[in-house]
Order: sequence, then C-alpha cells, then structure tokens
Amino acid sequence: MVDKKQSSRTFKKNILCIGGGYVGGSTMAVMAYKCPRYKVTVVDINRDRINQWNSETLPIYEPGIEEIVRATRGKNLFFSADIDKAIRDAEIIFVSVNTPTKNFGTGAGMAADLQYWEKTARQIRDASDSNKIIVDKGTLPVKTALAMERILTATKDVQFDVISNPEFLAEGTAVRDLLDPDRVLIGSRETPEGIRARNEIVEIYKNWVPEGRIITSDIWSSELSKLAANAFLAQRISSINAISAICEKTGANVTQIAHAIGLDKRIGEKYLSASVGFGGSCFQKDILNLVYLCRHYGLNEVADYWEGIVRINNYQKERFIFTMLLTMFNTLVDKKICLFGFAFKANTGDTRESPAIYIAKRLAEEKAELVISDPQAIENAKKDLADVDGKMRYVEDPYEAAAGCDAIAVMTEWNLYAKLDYEKIYRAMAKPAFIFDGRNILDHKRLFDIGFNVFPIGKPKLSHFRER
Ligand SMILES: NC(=O)c1ccc[n+]([C@@H]2O[C@H](COP(=O)([O-])OP(=O)(O)OC[C@H]3O[C@@H](n4cnc5c(N)ncnc54)[C@H](O)[C@@H]3O)[C@@H](O)[C@H]2O)c1
Repeated sequence: MVDKKQSSRTFKKNILCIGGGYVGGSTMAVMAYKCPRYKVTVVDINRDRINQWNSETLPIYEPGIEEIVRATRGKNLFFSADIDKAIRDAEIIFVSVNTPTKNFGTGAGMAADLQYWEKTARQIRDASDSNKIIVDKGTLPVKTALAMERILTATKDVQFDVISNPEFLAEGTAVRDLLDPDRVLIGSRETPEGIRARNEIVEIYKNWVPEGRIITSDIWSSELSKLAANAFLAQRISSINAISAICEKTGANVTQIAHAIGLDKRIGEKYLSASVGFGGSCFQKDILNLVYLCRHYGLNEVADYWEGIVRINNYQKERFIFTMLLTMFNTLVDKKICLFGFAFKANTGDTRESPAIYIAKRLAEEKAELVISDPQAIENAKKDLADVDGKMRYVEDPYEAAAGCDAIAVMTEWNLYAKLDYEKIYRAMAKPAFIFDGRNILDHKRLFDIGFNVFPIGKPKLSHFRER
C-alpha cells in the first residue's frame, strides 16, 4: 500500500503524531493533505488502529476523512506502530493521546487521567537523540506543559520546546472544521526559543489557514482556553435544557425561545438546541477537569458554578426517563422501546458518554425491552451495553427496529430519522404508540396526525389521551 519511491523523497520536515484516534488521525490527515512538502507519520500503541488506518476500513467514521486519507496515504501520510523509530526521525511531535476522566484514587471521577500522556512524554525523552518541538494537542489541565518540560529535560542533553496547540474540531464535522477552522491557537513560553518554536508551528498552519485566524498566546492561556471553550459550549446546552424544563411545565416552546433570544447578537443563534442532553468524550470530562482544577486552587464557588452544567445535563437525561415512565402508564416492564440513534451526535459512530447509554441503562433497570438502531454506532453500542442485564436487540434498519415496539425514543439527530415513512412505522407498532423526540428533529404535528402520542423536549406534548 505504501509507495516506497514517494516515501523516500526528501521532505521539508518530518512531523509525527503520537496517538491515532479521532483527533490525531483526522488532524494529521488534513495536515498532510494541505502540506505536501511535510512528511506526516501517525503512530499508536494500538496496532489494530494502525492496521485500520492502513486499510480500506478506517477506525473512525467522519464525513470526508476517507477521501483525504486516500489522497495522502503512502505519499506524505504514513501510519506506523514503530513508535521509537518515528520519534527519532521526527523534528516536530504532536501528542494526541487520550486524557479521560480518572476513575481511581485521588481525583477519581473528576481529574484528568494523565497516565497515557506521561508515558508518551517519557517515551519521547528516551527515544530522542536530537532537538525536537513537542506540541500538546490534547485537552489537558493548565500547567501540563510544565510537567512535560520537567519530564523531557530530566535526563538528556537534548533541547525540547513544548508548545500547546489545543484542537477545537467537533466530531461529525472534523474535516470541515480542520480545513476551515474558526481559529488555530498556538501557545508557547514567551522566551526566544519558545517563540521560535511557536513560529515553526505557525508556518505549518499558514499552508492553509489565513494568518488572521492563527492566534498565538502564552502557554497557560492556550491550555486554559480549550477547557474554557468546552465549558462555555456545554454551558449553552445546559442553559437551554434548563429552560426546556420550564417550558414543559408552562406550555411555552423552547424552539421559539431559542429563536427569540438567539437573534440578540450578544447571545447568538448557535448551540441553542434543547435535547436529551450532551454527550461525547469531551464536554463532561473537560468541565470536571476544570472543576477539579478550581477546587485544587481553593476556588470552591467557581467549581460549584461549572459543576452545575454537568448536574443539569444529568437531570435532563433523568427527566427524559421520567416523562417516558409517567406517560406510558407508570410502568415500562416488558414494554418494547426502540432507540433511534446511539451515537452521541449525528455523523459519527462515537458513543463515548452518549446520553443513549444512560437512557438504555435506565430503561433496562425499568425492565423494558430495548431495540437499538443506529447507522454507524451499533458495534460501539454493543460494547457500551455489554454488562447491562436486560433484553436488548441491535437492528440497523429503523423500520425493522421499530416494528412491534410501544415507543420510539430519538437519541441522535441523524438526518435519516426525520425522513422516514412514519405512517408505515406507525402501522407496524403496538398501540398506543409513543414517540419521545430527544432531539426535536421530527415533524411533531404530522406524527400526531398519523396517530402517535408525541413528547418533544421543551414543547407542549401532542397526546390523543383525554386529560380527565
Ligand atoms: N474527540 C474530540 O472531539 C476531541 C476534540 C478536541 C480535543 N480532544 C482531545 O484530544 C485528545 C485525544 O482525543 P481523541 O478523541 O483523539 O482520543 P482517542 O481515544 O480517540 O485516541 C487516542 C489514541 O492515543 C493512543 N495512545 C494512548 N497512549 C499512547 C501511547 N503511549 N503511545 C501511542 N499511542 C497512544 C490510543 O491507543 C488511542 O488510539 C484528548 O486529550 C481529547 O480531550 C478530543
């Protein structure tokens, strides 16, 4: 697969990325695509991942990524499992390993688990025999770059300049976000060496990002900007979800409210869709990371403020279950419930922290039977629910999945769910038939006219039952 003739040609620089996950894989593919004069190598400890990157079935689903990988792989983009050799050969090393929430010991459930990151730092140090620029691409607690410097310089006479270049892409639109980013942020020490290293990274991005969108800062501001950005984004979702709860009590309509407030330029229209809650590998972990940092610095009021975002998110998921239970006659035992979507958002197969996991577990606790459907996330869903007791089936075709069910719960805003033939679906379901639209993507009035009892988020329910 690798074209040997092409790979041996001289490149301007050798770039390496350690960690070939969602971020490492997609950022490096786009970098290679836009910088044909740089050789870009991606390594990972997970050999299966590397094999998948080198195959026709990539390890992640992301619109547009296949075309970019196909255009660059074997030319200036390489995937390898030989980490030490790749470190030796590289002049610039991006680090994009996972930094999940710690689930043991001090800080369990809050702090970032930095074990993968630290192992990488030591491996870079031990394998290096020439000066290198190390670029932290992950989302890390502020001051992690200092720890990186301390590890790297502990034993060797090699110069390492540590840069922070947090990634702002969103899964599902990663390729678009990388090709046309709102901004690229590059932070460094404000020393002559730090600024020289920072300028080298700026040079790479200048190959495709307009100069005005490449911003530089001190290193701590860069690290903290990423946590702050995710906290602000998640805050908008929890804010509109908190309003959705008041809407359901009062008969107001959250979509109309989002429209009315979003037209205020100080607020803006984006990220105001009420839903069953946010998910994904980042928002919750990064807010908890921020909360842990605040508590570390004795800022308990600030910690409580940000923690409230996660509390509202959990409340929103539990509210969704409560609505299902209440409206389906206070028992879900043996009821068949079909989940439309399992990914944490549309256009990805990623299910990390997906609200669907929580909803599925709670429905199983209530002894409902589950049918799980998703165009990309079925395999991940099976792993997420492997330890859950209960009756579960996995059916990709939504018509087949919903047939015989009492209710459909929309978990993911996949476009396809808005376009289904709901008359056909209604005919095949048990009656009375319910739809709980956890993403507000369906035509609720039309569903009601077909015969469904419809329960959106933050909008009046459309029910065929008489109130008294
Ligand atoms: N996923 C997102 O949307 C997103 C967006 C922006 C930033 N981030 C941040 O980027 C970082 C990476 O996230 P991700 O979603 O790509 O994670 P991921 O779990 O998809 O990928 C991380 C990869 O690193 C590999 N790895 C771990 N330790 C290693 C080691 N010592 N040597 C080589 N490889 C190693 C793992 O095998 C895995 O393939 C995290 O800090 C995350 O917070 C993620």
